[in-house]
Amino acid sequence: MKPELVALDVNGDVRYVPITGLQSLADVLRQEVHLTSVKVGCAEGYCGSCTVLLDGEPVVSCLMPAIACEGREVRTVDEPGELSGLQADLQRELCESDAVQCGMCIPGIVTLMSALIHQGEIRSAADISPALVGSICRCSGYARIVDAVERVRAAHAGALHREGSS
Ligand code: FES
Ligand code: FES
Repeated sequence: MKPELVALDVNGDVRYVPITGLQSLADVLRQEVHLTSVKVGCAEGYCGSCTVLLDGEPVVSCLMPAIACEGREVRTVDEPGELSGLQADLQRELCESDAVQCGMCIPGIVTLMSALIHQGEIRSAADISPALVGSICRCSGYARIVDAVERVRAAHAGALHREGSS
């Protein structure tokens, strides 16, 4: 099948990329846009390592046909826009708390957690583990990941509350 040139808005940059049939967004981001921060663990939609934001919502990009993303905003952990403060703090906290081992799951977890914290879906430590149910860390770092996310959530809680009520 011949690839089709499709305009994708990736991290605020509109670029024409060749897309073949139902090629996944994850593959296009890695192979055509060279964003290797998008990790592909299972390619079947259950590990969460390939999570990116599509129009602000977290999606597993291995199951998303890239062709369906034309005209929509794709954001990876490389250029998170309004989530940059949250994502930078999550990355730093995860590293400093030794929650990162091989790192395969981390971009997806940072993307997912920053979006859910920003949307007010995570309001306390108790919300974090259920929200991580689709994010598989094969290095068993869950306790440290949850603690690190909770510290960042708590640190940002005041600012997010003010943002929400203004
Ligand atoms: S690689 Fe997409 S969910 Fe596992
Ligand atoms: S740190 Fe290795 S999979 Fe999570």
